[in-house]
Amino acid sequence: MPLKPDKVLITAALLYANGALHFGHLAGAYLAADAYARFERMRGSDVLFLSGSDEYGVAIALSAELAGRSPVEHVDLYHKSNQELFSKLNFSFNHYSRTSWEGHRIPVLQYFNDLQENGFVEKRATEQLYSPEEKRFLADRYVIGGCPRCRFDAARGDECPKCGASYEATDLIAPRSRLSNASLTKKTTTHWFLLLDKLAPKVNEWIATKRWKPTVLNFLKHYLDNPLPRAITRDGTWGVPVPGEEGKVFYVWFEAPIGYISAAIEWAEKSGNPLAWQEYWFDPKTKLVQFIGKDNIYFHGIFFPAMTMGQNLPYKIVDELPANEFLNLEGRQFSKSDNWTIDLTDILTRYSPDQLRYTLAANAPESSDAEFTFKDLQLRCNGELVGKYGNLANRSLVFASAKCGGVIPPATLQPRDLLFLDQLAALTAQVQEAYSSFRLRRVCQLIMEISSLGNAYFDEKKPWATAKHEETLPDMQTTIHCSLLALKALAVVAKPIMPQTTEKLWALLGLDPSLHTHWDEALNLPLTVGHPLPTPTPLFSKISDEEIAAELAKLHGGGNYLG
Ligand code: 2FM
Ligand code: ZN
Repeated sequence: MPLKPDKVLITAALLYANGALHFGHLAGAYLAADAYARFERMRGSDVLFLSGSDEYGVAIALSAELAGRSPVEHVDLYHKSNQELFSKLNFSFNHYSRTSWEGHRIPVLQYFNDLQENGFVEKRATEQLYSPEEKRFLADRYVIGGCPRCRFDAARGDECPKCGASYEATDLIAPRSRLSNASLTKKTTTHWFLLLDKLAPKVNEWIATKRWKPTVLNFLKHYLDNPLPRAITRDGTWGVPVPGEEGKVFYVWFEAPIGYISAAIEWAEKSGNPLAWQEYWFDPKTKLVQFIGKDNIYFHGIFFPAMTMGQNLPYKIVDELPANEFLNLEGRQFSKSDNWTIDLTDILTRYSPDQLRYTLAANAPESSDAEFTFKDLQLRCNGELVGKYGNLANRSLVFASAKCGGVIPPATLQPRDLLFLDQLAALTAQVQEAYSSFRLRRVCQLIMEISSLGNAYFDEKKPWATAKHEETLPDMQTTIHCSLLALKALAVVAKPIMPQTTEKLWALLGLDPSLHTHWDEALNLPLTVGHPLPTPTPLFSKISDEEIAAELAKLHGGGNYLG
């Protein structure tokens, strides 16, 4: 098992502020990050967990323009609504920042100035598409035209939706503006390029020390075979302005990753200790864990590390890069434009955050793409949460209330009970290992194994039978005591995934909330014999077939689309 780190800086990819957070995002980067942050805090690590909105770039400017809003109005809207959604889902960010705050520019300029001073960026002339009518250069997202490969007439500026070809916008046949349909011409302009070819040897050496998922490493090695200089500026106004260059801003993938640093700076400023961020970013002993979806691997595994290696401050470079694959919805990719999506604000009115968090964690796309289906939601919630976890909680707590006077009963442990407690301890140790290695699917399996172990023990010990005779009463009490210990373990190990339900379970065990915060302490906490237990109530409710049918009808009818 990896050693327990003292200081952990955890980041979850900065979310583009031009659309609503959806299940695909949650399953890709965010839920794994939140569960890991919660787990590390529970085992006593000093955690700084950051994310925020990625607000600049051509895609955002275009989407604002298409929505008839200014870029500022557009990102304000989505920043606020996405932050609210994260909070409804009980995310535990220490700070949720945004790249348009003024302090973000400071580290961006520091990177750029250092890279310039060290000879890792260079100004070069390049040909770009220019709209004489709009009097501006148009970046790829603004352009359509004929595909240079299949000749499809409405190919996008960077790739063809028909044949999948990828190319430069200048390769399009008869390129035109996506907004005005005006014809475009080629015009020479200058841009700054990051000389990745110069930085690649250092990146190569560093990558060789990493023990990441083979899929991630193979992907990165493929890029490093042919590292080409890459433009880090764009013509436009929506972004961090490039010093001394009128009408140019930094490429979003140059400045957005620096958003992880500026988020820490903003957090420190708000927390009243403006230099506190350096204790994480500048300490070589900090473990930097960056959660991303697989489409972000290149930028976090090569581009940002190369930028950091080429500048002068001692920032940490990523130690762990848990990149998840994609989550599909009922057999198809999530797509806002095709209305194939689930509105989280809406679905949260019918299901609890923990039902959704558990279902997504149990089916996380960790080693291959995964599928969200409403049938799976029902199976997980009814079969696992109600049928296993909730069943053990309900039967043990109801029994304690009815037959043990509503207090924690005493225990006289016999070999069978000791065996159960040993098995319980072995499984909880495995949960810790699974969290440490970012395997939420495994965590969920283990939570269910513990629940099943508890239910099998309860069935085998038959407390309903032993409760009937004076001489077997101590055995009944021991059974209930041990079942309550299993519940306590379940309230600890499931807390990073189901924070709300496990808090409730902890309270139903009559325990002080302050003792639920530390992993080992909470697991080792004895139950005080005679301590009163509150009146039990169920932890979860079932989802009916009708409810699932209604969800599917809504999805297929497109009734859940929020524009
Ligand atoms: O793919 C995305 O959603 C990007 N907004 C992620 C950016 S991560 C970071 F580098 F800012
Ligand atoms: Zn094509």
